[in-house]
Amino acid sequence: MDTIKEDVIILGGGMAGLRAAVAAAEYDSKITIGLVSKLYPLRSHSVAAEGGTSAVLNAKDSFDLHAYDTIKGSDYLGDQDAIEEFVRLVPEQIYTTDHWGCPWSRNEDGTIAQRDFGALSFPRAVFAADKTGFHVMQTLYSRALMYPNIHFYNEYFATKLVVENNLFNAITTINIKTGDFVVFQGKSIVFAAGGAGRLYQFSTNAHFVTGDGDGIAYRAGIPLKDMEFMQFHPTGLVPSGILITEAARAEGGILLNNEKKRFMSTYAPNKLEKASRDVVSRAIMWEIEAGRGIKGEYGDMEYVYLDLTGISNLLDERLPMITEIAKKFNGIDAHTEPIPIHPAAHYTMGGIDSNVKTTTLYPNVFAVGENACVSIHGANRLGSNSTNECLALGNVAGKVAAEWAKSHDFASVSISSVNDEEKRIWEDLLKRNGGENVAKIRDDLRINLDKNVGVFRTEDLLQQGLKNIKSYQERYNRITIEDKSSKFNMELQWALELGFMLDLAEIINVGAIMRKESRGAHYRRDFPDRDDKNFMKHTIASYSVNGPQISYKPVVKTKWEPTVRSY
Ligand code: FUM
Repeated sequence: MDTIKEDVIILGGGMAGLRAAVAAAEYDSKITIGLVSKLYPLRSHSVAAEGGTSAVLNAKDSFDLHAYDTIKGSDYLGDQDAIEEFVRLVPEQIYTTDHWGCPWSRNEDGTIAQRDFGALSFPRAVFAADKTGFHVMQTLYSRALMYPNIHFYNEYFATKLVVENNLFNAITTINIKTGDFVVFQGKSIVFAAGGAGRLYQFSTNAHFVTGDGDGIAYRAGIPLKDMEFMQFHPTGLVPSGILITEAARAEGGILLNNEKKRFMSTYAPNKLEKASRDVVSRAIMWEIEAGRGIKGEYGDMEYVYLDLTGISNLLDERLPMITEIAKKFNGIDAHTEPIPIHPAAHYTMGGIDSNVKTTTLYPNVFAVGENACVSIHGANRLGSNSTNECLALGNVAGKVAAEWAKSHDFASVSISSVNDEEKRIWEDLLKRNGGENVAKIRDDLRINLDKNVGVFRTEDLLQQGLKNIKSYQERYNRITIEDKSSKFNMELQWALELGFMLDLAEIINVGAIMRKESRGAHYRRDFPDRDDKNFMKHTIASYSVNGPQISYKPVVKTKWEPTVRSY
């Protein structure tokens, strides 16, 4: 067993993690930062962010308007104090990344361009064509390489947070290349390991987005918040699920059913295709249920059309990537033909219970980005409010983690806890021999969540979903990992990921059963209304050996009274 010591550990090399690393490095050049990721940073899912990132840059816009849009979008579950602080932090990040070389799209006069996005009352999404994530990631990665005190540990798979006396002292990992068990000892840690969108089969997320960060924190006693709120993006490309950016509708793309009829006026008469994601996703599903979906061409999945032919003049300049994706994956020329789309799991609104200072239950553990639940997004995140969170709060997280590291010593590593983890992996998991296949259980789990814990939920579906999850947990005890080797043992990694996924699926499902109302992305057909009296509260899931213990925590309101939400 090797031990590597770094003052600040950052788990995750995506946008939030890189931004935190740079902030920590700038805070003090003597602080060492270990950026630990199961991927190479530029393979992180952040590179797939497409359409834009909201920031108040225009005198006609305002922080109050950005905050209000976010709060209404959250279906009043977002914490208003956090949102007010967050929107104020964002603009500086746009200018900072601009100065670092991010090629933000420009207006004719050279100012930074902004476009409309879903449910915005002002076009405030800053963008780099439809490759926003790619360009921001390139910018941050290049920047991070400039600091000698940032050390990259690529392809290390984290397995356990080691905690004693409510303080983190180490995190255990497997070096994927060698198979070695490696312990990272740190003074503070930032969780920035992304969401859990691959709990679902039809998803815009890369296959490695398996919620490990949430799972590790949860098992170490850090509560997760609002996990039942999974966002379904209206326009996943059929059949692959690849994201077709919301910017396509913001720029003027329209949705058509099998009668080639534009249908959004029935569901969101004012905003139409530019309503919030939960509203548009349900509208598509209702159209399909009413027999107005399109069948046949791409397997079993029914779909509707996203028609961009009316904005074909904009595609090459403003939406080049999705135009290329439609061509490469479906052979469709978006200039002349509509694109088949269906709602797809996209974003985990829940995550590690944290706040706008990125602090968590343990004072030297911080959380940020999709791994965290601040809560800014409440029950439904607005499109264009994710990468800005990674930048603004990544900056906060890096600083506070560095501050802690500067004023504290290393605590000694809890060796017995580390040894237990080593045994769990190599003595237990790798040696299980019950014949169950990891990939098969994972597929079953994903299909189960699509079907029973999806866009539409009912008591019966959710109870069935939970029953299935329990059966997968039982099967998990009987897996056989065929590959017993150490180097690049992906089957072992998938088994470890699946362990976390099973925990998270249970939390999502239990939270959804207990939330007997409809709010944002959580839509219960049997409780179709929002119930502020009983459910204007955050769901908190805490670990126990018998499954998640659920409690609740109040939502913070500053000045916006909840009202009926319509678009
Ligand atoms: O549709 C999109 O471009 C996604 C943006 C987001 O999730 O914020």
